[in-house]
Amino acid sequence: MRMYDLIEKKKMGNVLSEQEIEWFVEEYTKGTIPDYQVSALLMAIYFQGMTNEETVTLTLSMAKSGDMLDLSKIEGIKVDKHSTGGVGDKTSLVVTPMVSALGVPVAKMSGRGLGHTGGTIDKLESFPGFSTGISEETFINNVNTIKIAIAGQTANLAPADKKLYALRDVTATVDQISLIASSIMSKKIASGADAIVLDVKTGSGAFMRKEEEALKLARTMVEIGKGLGRETTAIISDMNQPLGFAVGNNLEVKEAIETLKGNGPKDLLEISLELGSYMVYYAKKANSVKEAREKLIKTIEDGSALEQLRKFVSAQGGDASYIDAPEKFPMADIIEEIILEETGYIKYIETEEIGFAAMMLGGGRETKDSIIDLSVGFIVHKKVGDQVLAGESIATVYGNSRKQVDAAVKRFKEAYTLSPDYLEKFKLIKDIIS
Ligand code: URA
Repeated sequence: MRMYDLIEKKKMGNVLSEQEIEWFVEEYTKGTIPDYQVSALLMAIYFQGMTNEETVTLTLSMAKSGDMLDLSKIEGIKVDKHSTGGVGDKTSLVVTPMVSALGVPVAKMSGRGLGHTGGTIDKLESFPGFSTGISEETFINNVNTIKIAIAGQTANLAPADKKLYALRDVTATVDQISLIASSIMSKKIASGADAIVLDVKTGSGAFMRKEEEALKLARTMVEIGKGLGRETTAIISDMNQPLGFAVGNNLEVKEAIETLKGNGPKDLLEISLELGSYMVYYAKKANSVKEAREKLIKTIEDGSALEQLRKFVSAQGGDASYIDAPEKFPMADIIEEIILEETGYIKYIETEEIGFAAMMLGGGRETKDSIIDLSVGFIVHKKVGDQVLAGESIATVYGNSRKQVDAAVKRFKEAYTLSPDYLEKFKLIKDIIS
C-alpha cells in the first residue's frame, strides 16, 4: 500500500477501505510514514470528511494501537463517562461516588487539565496523599471491593491518537468532527468501557461553541459507540457560564463535597443526575432511566454517595478527613470581592475567559509540565440572567500573588456583558442523543 494513493483517494472525496485505514494508523504509529504525508491526509479528511464506517474503523484502529485495558476481572457492566470539558466542570467528582453507591463499577481513566479546562486528577490531588498512579492490580481490586477507582491514563493508551492529535494541533486540522469523535472514543474503547455516557458541552466555555456542531459531534460519537457494540448516550449541555459556582481545583472539590451533602448548586446536581441516570441504567442497576434518577437522589439523601467518596479517597491514599472538615483545604492568601460599577442583568459571559483568568492565578496548566496552585480560583456569584447592582460583588477571587490577582480580576470582569433588560436563563440540558 502507498500513502500517496490514500491521500489522492481522499483528496478526490472517495471512501478509504478498512484495510487502508488500519494500515496507515499502524504504520504511522510505528513511525514508517512521515508527518508530511499524514498531514496531507488529515487535510484531505478535513475537507472531504469521513463516512460513519470510516470513522468507526479509524476509532478502533487508534484504540488498538496501544494497550487495550482488560477489565474482565471486574464484575458487572463497566460504564465510563466523558466530558468534552468546560469551566467549573467537576461533574465526575459528583457522579462517580453516586453511581458507585448503587453498585455500578466505576473503573475510570482520567486526565489532567491543560489550558482553560481543569482535569479530574488535579482536583482529586487536592486531598493530601491522593494518588492516581495505582497499579493495575490495586485498580481492579478497588473496583471489585469498593466499586470505584480512578487512575491516570497509561502512557500507551491509544498512542496513534496521541501522535495524530499532536499533528492535527500544528496543521489546523483539530476541528473536524470525525477526527474529534474518533480521538475521544478511541481512548474510551481502549479503556475497556462496556457502555459510555458522554457530556458534550456547548457554548462560550466549550470546545464546541455552536450547538449544531456539538450535536454533530454527539451524533458521530453515538454512532461510533453503536458501531463498536457499546451502548452510548450523549447529553448536550450548556457551557455558556461556569458549571456551579466554583472554578479552581480545591474550590471545586469543596463544591462537589457540598453537592454530595445535598447543598450543591442546582445545575451541577442536575447534570450529575442526568449523566448518572444513564450510567446506572446501562449498568442494569435500574429498570429505567427515571428509576435510576430516583435511586441516585436517595444516595445523597441517605449519605451513601458521600460515604463512597470517603472510601474512594482513602483507598487511593488520600486524607478523607477533609471531606468532613473542608476548611482544612489550603486557602489562598488573597481573597477579594470582584465588583462591577454598573447596574443591569448579566447578558453574556465569555466563559472561556473565566477559565483563562483562573489559569492566570496559577490554577491551570500552560504547558504539560506546569505546576499548578490548587488553592486559587473564583467563586462566581452572578450568572446569566441574574440582576447585578452597581457596587455589588459578582464573584470572589482566591489568589496568592497581588500581580496575578489584579490581572486575573481585570480579565474576569471583561468576560461579563450586562444588559438593562431581564434575560431568560439558559436551559442546561439542550438535547440527549441515544
Ligand atoms: N479531545 C480529544 O481527546 N480529542 C480531540 O480531537 C479533541 C478533544
